Amino acid sequence: MPLAVVLILLVVGSLLFHLLSPWTFTELASNWGMVDFTVDVTLYVTGFVFVVVNLFMAYCVIKFRYRKGARATYEPENKKLETWLTGLTAVGVAAMLTPGLFVWAKFVDVPEEAHVVEAIGQQWHWTFRMPGADGKLGEVDAERISNDNPFGMDPDDPNGQDDILVYNPEVHVPIDKPVKFLLRSKDVLHDFAVAQFRVKMDLVPGMNTFLWLTPTQEGRFEILCEELCGIGHHTMRGAVVVDSAGDYDTWLANQPTYSALNAKPAGNAGIGAAQYAICASCHGQQGEGNVAMNAPKIAGQSSWYLKRQIMNYKKGLRGTNPADTFGQQMTGMVAMLADEQAVDNVVAHIRTFPDNPVEQTSQGGNPMAGAKQYSVCAYCHGKDGMGVQALNAPRVAGMSDWYLERQLRYFRDEVRGSHLQDYYGFQMGLMGQSLYDEQAMKDLIAYINTL
Ligand code: CUA
Repeated sequence: MPLAVVLILLVVGSLLFHLLSPWTFTELASNWGMVDFTVDVTLYVTGFVFVVVNLFMAYCVIKFRYRKGARATYEPENKKLETWLTGLTAVGVAAMLTPGLFVWAKFVDVPEEAHVVEAIGQQWHWTFRMPGADGKLGEVDAERISNDNPFGMDPDDPNGQDDILVYNPEVHVPIDKPVKFLLRSKDVLHDFAVAQFRVKMDLVPGMNTFLWLTPTQEGRFEILCEELCGIGHHTMRGAVVVDSAGDYDTWLANQPTYSALNAKPAGNAGIGAAQYAICASCHGQQGEGNVAMNAPKIAGQSSWYLKRQIMNYKKGLRGTNPADTFGQQMTGMVAMLADEQAVDNVVAHIRTFPDNPVEQTSQGGNPMAGAKQYSVCAYCHGKDGMGVQALNAPRVAGMSDWYLERQLRYFRDEVRGSHLQDYYGFQMGLMGQSLYDEQAMKDLIAYINTL
């Protein structure tokens, strides 16, 4: 009897959970209502069978439970019952499979006018490429991928010159126009999935896969990697922003082409020296940092990182959190750098500074305990803590330890990495969650100080 009660409670509980829980489909934002229909049919068929089978079991347990002297009747064949069961099962299975065939036929039949966006996955972020005015994507090759050529572009391919390169996990698409996402992985299996679009597809190294959809709602939709791809898998996020046609054109006009990126002059350290004067008052003449001014050491920091952070300040991705008073100071200062070229110049000047050791101020940490924690950080920041550009992880070894400690705290308290578009800050926030008790932080800093 207890078993029968459990079975009945299981059915009632499951139905209540389904009807009352907040975990339902996200709102549909694409043309793929067919996918929802298919899922609904599967749910109704399997749900009906689940309820009927379990209640039938409970009924049997009660009705045919042990009674003294009762005898079972033996009935090996029941043609009528078998016909019904086989027929109903066939109808149910067919109902679940048939809509999927129609969905798949449509899924592989990409509208000819679909505009193409290549989404490139790597541990653990997304980048995007779109054909330029010629409508053709240039050749790419994994062998050419490097820090200077993260897309693996062929410099001699004329089709690639006007390709639009988006080195950022956020891409825009226009509303109500079919878009075909070409999918390419640089390293391991990933999966491109936006819940609101209902379609998803794996990225397989050495293969090009695709999916297509027509976005039907403006807004910002999160991309999740839905294939386990290593320690940072859960942090591999991005966004597809669906724009009105006008907003999309504005966004597109601001994205660089491959040839424009190549033609951009390198930073000029000489010009940068004059612009650095304002930075020097806090960060020091040689970028050595000044704890009294809350200015970290910048000498020896990776140039790509310095540039990204200054640009983040300029774009309001950093230094806009009201709790980040030092960041707000920095926002005022970077406003003096007129444009990207000025930023490049200053960064080029910073690169000329000698990388002298800094005074270590952090106390109370156990480097042995910190070593264990750092093994997680090492996946991105490198075993030697010198940073890995391809993983968007800056150098941490030999930098101002008081600054590292404060930033860890800022990540924990979501003072840093809280801006919606600060994907790498957000990523660091997720990765660091295991380290955010005070002692763990001190241990970690103590270990980084030994690197
Ligand atoms: Cu990429 Cu999981």
